[in-house]
Amino acid sequence: MGIFDRLTGRGPRASGEERKDRPVPRHIAVIMDGNGRWAKKRGLPRKAGHKVGAETFRTIATYCKDIGVKYFTVYAFSTENWKRPQDEVDALMNLFRTYLKEAAETMVARGVAVRVLGDLSVLPADIQRQIDEVHALADTLGEDAATASLCINYGGRDEIKNAVRALAHDVQAGRLRPEDITEDTISAHLYTAHMPDPDLIIRPSGEVRTSNFLLWQSAYSEYYFTDVLWPDFSTKDMDAAIDDFNRRSRRFGGV
Ligand code: FPP
Repeated sequence: MGIFDRLTGRGPRASGEERKDRPVPRHIAVIMDGNGRWAKKRGLPRKAGHKVGAETFRTIATYCKDIGVKYFTVYAFSTENWKRPQDEVDALMNLFRTYLKEAAETMVARGVAVRVLGDLSVLPADIQRQIDEVHALADTLGEDAATASLCINYGGRDEIKNAVRALAHDVQAGRLRPEDITEDTISAHLYTAHMPDPDLIIRPSGEVRTSNFLLWQSAYSEYYFTDVLWPDFSTKDMDAAIDDFNRRSRRFGGV
């Protein structure tokens, strides 16, 4: 029993309840890394690590919603991940199929708008159809809904390149003057146009790099790195990341 419980005389509470006492970031993003190493340590194929990683995603996304995090965004498949063995790519696509089906069936009841961010045009046609269905349902949810976003075939540089291209077309067509291009105009052309920038970006598995994730949006994000491999990442690890975030002093370039 923690000190808070002793002081209040309350017994141990569900961890989701516990967090409500403290502020939580509005937008948390995660680079779900370490699935392959988790599997290797157990003598399992890499895809087994991704399967458990997908379960961890469900647990942590649900926890974030329960404690009041409005936006939860994960890096699920990068523009570079197509280079992986076909068997592994296929396994990841199947996990997306399963999750999108589940999202379509449950998101309205749960009040969570599921979104997929990235260049979706090269994904298998059936997955694109699933994404369209999920986005149509997400559009029916009101302002109060939490948003869980999966970045699939996502690359930060690719996203910025696409935004620049769209702006260049607008200029060429005479719809936009170059001097009217602002940081806001650029943000509005990114996949994340309708959400705030991430406050906290978590990278498990001991790697300390951004790997092309939310390059523009992370300008003032706080980073949190931990050695825990993503399949082992628990609600306690999320609490630790949020506590660490709450101790930071965010000055956004001021003093
Ligand atoms: C990086 O770990 C992880 C990925 C490339 C895939 C992440 C995807 C999932 C956890 C599945 C998500 C599915 C849903 C439904 C959200 P790695 O394979 O690079 O690990 P390693 O660095 O240990 O090799």
